[in-house]
Amino acid sequence: MIIVPGPASQSLGKKIAEALNARVVPVNLKAFPDGEYCLRFDGDLTGEEVVIVQTTGPPQDTNILQLLLMLDTAKELGAKKVTAVVPYLAFARQDKRFLAGEAVSAETLVKLIEACGTSRFVTVNIHAENILKKFRVPTKNLSAITLLAEHFKSRGLDGAFSLSPDKGAIGLAEEADRVLGGGCGWLRKERDRYTGEIQVEEKSLNVKGKDVIVLDDIISTGGTIARAIKMLKTQGARRVYAACVHPLLIGEAKTKIIENGAEEIVGTDSIPSSVRTVSLAPVIAEALAR
Ligand code: R5P
Repeated sequence: MIIVPGPASQSLGKKIAEALNARVVPVNLKAFPDGEYCLRFDGDLTGEEVVIVQTTGPPQDTNILQLLLMLDTAKELGAKKVTAVVPYLAFARQDKRFLAGEAVSAETLVKLIEACGTSRFVTVNIHAENILKKFRVPTKNLSAITLLAEHFKSRGLDGAFSLSPDKGAIGLAEEADRVLGGGCGWLRKERDRYTGEIQVEEKSLNVKGKDVIVLDDIISTGGTIARAIKMLKTQGARRVYAACVHPLLIGEAKTKIIENGAEEIVGTDSIPSSVRTVSLAPVIAEALAR
């Protein structure tokens, strides 16, 4: 098996290769003055099982195009099988036509990934699992929540309460609770489809004096998780931690979360960021080895 760490997932790709003791084939990017670039595999892929690791966080368009170029070229160069490992799938939140006339971006992305000759698709805590049903090739949606919970446990937070800031993410809090064992709950969030504004419904949580881990799949602007943290602190929670799989952390997200009372933000290396404390390499390597 050959691992190709894509330009957007250099560090994670190399860690996955190390965990599997697999050969790495690097890709070189030659940039042109007009913003275009030429991508080149620096090694032979003929007849090989090739795994391309490329996340698609910001800048999404560039990272997606590089992913497609790598998939298509690997196939063209004679790879026997090409697996796309996309730790964070961009546009996964646009999985339906919420308003008339909208693009269902996630579906278009699936069509493009498949059209480039992908034999298998692997991702982590995809926002909406129904997107994977659009693939005809085998897919795997891995979870990083147990790794995140184990991280908190190793830091002495065994027995902490796990909370998801959105009812749709209750599965995340339940999974963390299987490690931390301090109980779990959820909040209800509504997003205005026109303005993007969110409302988090007030709810009594019985967290007085408790440590709490708030878990979400994505932290983007930080608005959702900051509101949950504020509510927890108002209700007397002791230490509150923000945890997520995909730390997009746009603009002032980090400041907002800390100012609302979080001790710390813990994320994974699904996207390069300053909070990538937990690596996805073990969980991805295990899935690829199976
Ligand atoms: C959406 O439902 C996701 O699960 C996250 O809750 C959302 O993307 C977080 O966005 P933000 O950090 O901008 O509130």
